[in-house]
Amino acid sequence: MHNAAFRALGIKAVYEAVHVKTYELAKFAEEARNKYDGFNVTVPHKNKIIDFLDGLYPTANFAGSVNTVINENALLWGDSTDGRGLELAIQNEFGLSISQKNVFFIGCGGACRAVAVHFAASGVKSLSFINRTLSKAEELLVLLKKASPNVKLSFSSINDENFIQNAVQEADIIIQSTSIGLDKSAPSPLGEKFFLQNKFYYDIIYENTKFIELARKHNCPVADGLSMLLYQGAESFKKWTGLDAPIEIMRKALLEKKP
Ligand code: ATR
Repeated sequence: MHNAAFRALGIKAVYEAVHVKTYELAKFAEEARNKYDGFNVTVPHKNKIIDFLDGLYPTANFAGSVNTVINENALLWGDSTDGRGLELAIQNEFGLSISQKNVFFIGCGGACRAVAVHFAASGVKSLSFINRTLSKAEELLVLLKKASPNVKLSFSSINDENFIQNAVQEADIIIQSTSIGLDKSAPSPLGEKFFLQNKFYYDIIYENTKFIELARKHNCPVADGLSMLLYQGAESFKKWTGLDAPIEIMRKALLEKKP
């Protein structure tokens, strides 16, 4: 999608994929200072890359997660466009602003962290979380409380049916952020009875998951992670070039590659 955007705007640049192992991150960052105007970072390096950067923008700093690096005169600045990307995706898919909304996250991993920090700083009313590993949810809540004391926060185990019942009832938007759906044989992390037509469902995975199937089956508004991928990319593009991204060209390029 980035190469399509560069071509469309006549920018002489190339976006390329580089496979970097964790032990190679320091070397990669040093080379990047002279080689790239910017780059994206994806799993599993979103946190580990921080040690090799010169500075962080606030969201990346709070979340401890970087997906976009901007090279300014050989200084590497880390930022995260994941949260803004999902915010724009929700706006685009559902015509919905996250402002004053109650948002329920299923999963508390790296993807959720950066998004939750951005959402908390962007005027949501409440954030609730369920996760398999409770300590991770607890840790995220401590961080969010510090960053955004006005947002109502709650969390529980992924098996706590009472909590889930209440969280779904209260939620406007329900976001599936676990990696469970990548396994085609795995069940939806949210039970079938929790798919209600007056809620908005978003799965950050950009494939057909059980979560998406159930939402469709119950006629709930639902979208997959392709739009988040698109808008986080568009925000990175803006940070590197200073230009608005040609969204429709990027969307078309992404759809051509969709499995
Ligand atoms: P990402 O950066 O893509 O979010 P991650 O940090 O490994 O990846 O997080 C994956 C998320 O999926 C976590 O919330 C994880 O739960 P844990 O924190 O307990 O590990 C969740 N997850 C993955 N496989 C799971 C499973 N089989 N059952 C329940 N939760 C699962």
